[in-house]
Order: sequence, then structure tokens, then C-alpha cells
Amino acid sequence: MAMIAVGSDHAGFLLKEDVKKFLQEKGFPVRDFGTFDQERVDYTDYGLVVAEAVAKGECEKGILFCGTGVGMSITANKVKGIRAVVCSEPCSAKFARAHNDTNILALGGRIVGTELAKMIVEVWLLTHFEGGRHAVRVEKITRFENGQQAAEDVPAQNRPA
Ligand code: RB5
Repeated sequence: MAMIAVGSDHAGFLLKEDVKKFLQEKGFPVRDFGTFDQERVDYTDYGLVVAEAVAKGECEKGILFCGTGVGMSITANKVKGIRAVVCSEPCSAKFARAHNDTNILALGGRIVGTELAKMIVEVWLLTHFEGGRHAVRVEKITRFENGQQAAEDVPAQNRPA
């Protein structure tokens, strides 16, 4: 099975530990990029390192934990090739894979409990990208990210008046 990168700040540390154990029990290889205790750190440092490991292909997917998941998702989304989503329930997690092909999941240690987090993680990891019309949209995001498409390139008939 493909390698899953995990990372957290102090506010996400305990949930990271619980989810890491869950992943290992399910047989997923896990690479833990820290933090390794509850001492205060900046989520940005850990989010960036995990996102780069995923963007470079060293790990297939990443799961990030901070207080809300918001800071981690914003940070990860700054890295080229990353599509990160913050989820607090399994339905969004499912469609974030099926329709958006997200490669990073962010969870809030102050928002979701361990059992809910496990459900979110499991559905996110087991759901496949549906491709088709969704692939066309994801490719447009990538083109925009690479500077190959701007708002003025959107066909006039698709633009709001
Ligand atoms: C840390 O207090 C908190 O701001 C951080 O964990 C995260 O929630 C930021 O988005």
C-alpha cells in the first residue's frame, strides 16, 4: 500500500497520534513528519513539509492536523500540485476524493473527535477519483495553478454578466 504522510502542530498532535495508530492497524504505511509532542509550534512548518513530500511523490497522500484544520489546508494548498481539503464529516471527504481528487486531508484536533476522524480518514482513503467530467475541472485548476489559464481565458458564454 502507498505511503501516507502525516503531520501536525501542537493542537493536532493528539489526534495525529490516534489516526496514525488507526492507519497502522489498517495496514497503511505511515511516515510521520512531526510534531512529536504538545509544545507550541507553527502549523505552517509541518504543513509545508508534508505537502512537499506529497507533491514530489515521496508519499501518495498526506493527512494534516492542527486546531481546526484550516491553517494546514491553506498552507498545503500553496504547494504546486496539492489539492488539500479540510473536512469535519465523511460526506465531504468522500466527494473531495471522488470529484476533486484531493491528495491532502486536513483535520481539526479541536473540532472532530477520534472516532469521527477515523471515519473521515477511512472514507477519504478508500474513495477513488471518478475522473470524466471531474478530471476536466481538476485539469483546469492545474492549468490555472501553472499560469496557463487566467480568468480572461474563460469562454465568454461561461462568464457571469
Ligand atoms: C493553534 O493555536 C491554531 O491556530 C492552529 O492549530 C490552527 O487551528 C490554525 O489554523
